[in-house]
Amino acid sequence: MSDAIAKTAPQAGTAAVQRCILPGCAAVFGIREQIYVCPRCRGPLEIEIALEPLKAVPDLCERWHARAASHDSRDRSGVWRFRELLPFDDDAPVVTLCEGNTPLYDAPRSANYAGLTALRLKHQGCNPTASFKDTGMTTAVTQAKLLGARTVVCASTGNTAASLAAYAARAELQCAILLPQGQISPAKLAQSMDYGAIICEIAGNFDDCMRLIAELADVPSIYIANSVNPFRIEGQKTVAFELLEQCSWRVPDHVVVPGGNMGNSSALGKGFDEMLRLGWIDRLPKISIMQAEGSAPLAHLFAALPAASSNADAALPDEIAPIANPRTLATAIKIGAPVSWKKALRAVLRTHGNIITVSEQEIADAKAIIGRDGIGCEPASATTVAGIRKLVGAGKIHAGESVVAVLTGHVLKDPDYVGHYHRGTLSLESVTAAGTAMPVPIVGAFRNAPEKVAANKEAILKSLQSRR
Ligand code: F0G
Repeated sequence: MSDAIAKTAPQAGTAAVQRCILPGCAAVFGIREQIYVCPRCRGPLEIEIALEPLKAVPDLCERWHARAASHDSRDRSGVWRFRELLPFDDDAPVVTLCEGNTPLYDAPRSANYAGLTALRLKHQGCNPTASFKDTGMTTAVTQAKLLGARTVVCASTGNTAASLAAYAARAELQCAILLPQGQISPAKLAQSMDYGAIICEIAGNFDDCMRLIAELADVPSIYIANSVNPFRIEGQKTVAFELLEQCSWRVPDHVVVPGGNMGNSSALGKGFDEMLRLGWIDRLPKISIMQAEGSAPLAHLFAALPAASSNADAALPDEIAPIANPRTLATAIKIGAPVSWKKALRAVLRTHGNIITVSEQEIADAKAIIGRDGIGCEPASATTVAGIRKLVGAGKIHAGESVVAVLTGHVLKDPDYVGHYHRGTLSLESVTAAGTAMPVPIVGAFRNAPEKVAANKEAILKSLQSRR
């Protein structure tokens, strides 16, 4: 069945182009040019898919849905089953690990905690390498194969690295990852080691690693797989399609994501926008981005925007003030100079969403509540539920509205954090005005530490009774 579908649907690859998103430039480049930013103005690039021919394809949504039951490896992928909207031809050397097709869970305890009647969690931690990065890596590494790259590289706070390492291994490409030394969860590092990547531990933070990546971008045999690469965004945008499918094409009022380097929010914005332009939805969900207090350059910029900036394209500022020493225990989003901030800000402004900060305490407690729903996630993902609670408190989300939070990583991505929270030993170092480092403890409102119990039935029953 999948072959029949492929032959009757137009191929996006031949008609797609790369375009600079800055309205004053808007330069266009070919789809197989190995560029990451606009060669004319250094602005961000995005892929423009020819949507018009797709309007004439009957029952495309039904076809996408039907593919999930097929045995073709592209159909099994929650990214490639939407391939009419991807910038590849039908003979592309697809590198897939059956990514996507992740669950959308009801989360009643988290809803109650956040002050909502209902809350759904789209768990992107249920991907092959346990984070949302896989949906974009399948398309980026496929493009690397098409371009004949020998080596794929990225800077990472851990998850991009693990994902790239896995997809490079599948594609038999050399993989090098640049990581900020000592700032990566051991579980994420373990994944990259196992997948055979060359791991370069850099004495610096993520932003330093990202600067080095920019220097490597002109080596033709090297392909950059960070989300500055618009082919990453193409894969990640399909999460919007899948989510709409899971919502029976009823658009949620709010979609809330954590923000780090800002690829995810950019991708969701693009995905929903394409659905609107195809006429398959009639409005956009409000996209809101949550940042950790100590690593929140975009939230600061957003808070300082004049009230009249809601006309997204006209209002994009030229600069963002980076945070020199970002701080958060949610190491995945410990980023002071987000690369894709312009695309992300555009998505939030277009959809009338928000960008706010949440504290370390709020992240930690929200994470534990998500766990109590039997779901679990890594700390960065929990900024969503923490932020939704704040937005409900501020009257910006109403209790009865339909809200989806995107969980970006699996609970086992950072088990040290979980153990410290529940044992009461989690703390963030704070530096006083006099320059001394002081640990600021995070008091777990939902602590659940293991207890020593004697090896007999009575002791176990007593323990159960004491916790009723
Ligand atoms: N959540 C998790 C678990 C992440 O790993 C990241 C980013 C984000 C949220 C933020 O997403 O960058 O698209 O805004 N991690 C990157 C990495 C930076 O290297 O793994 P974003």
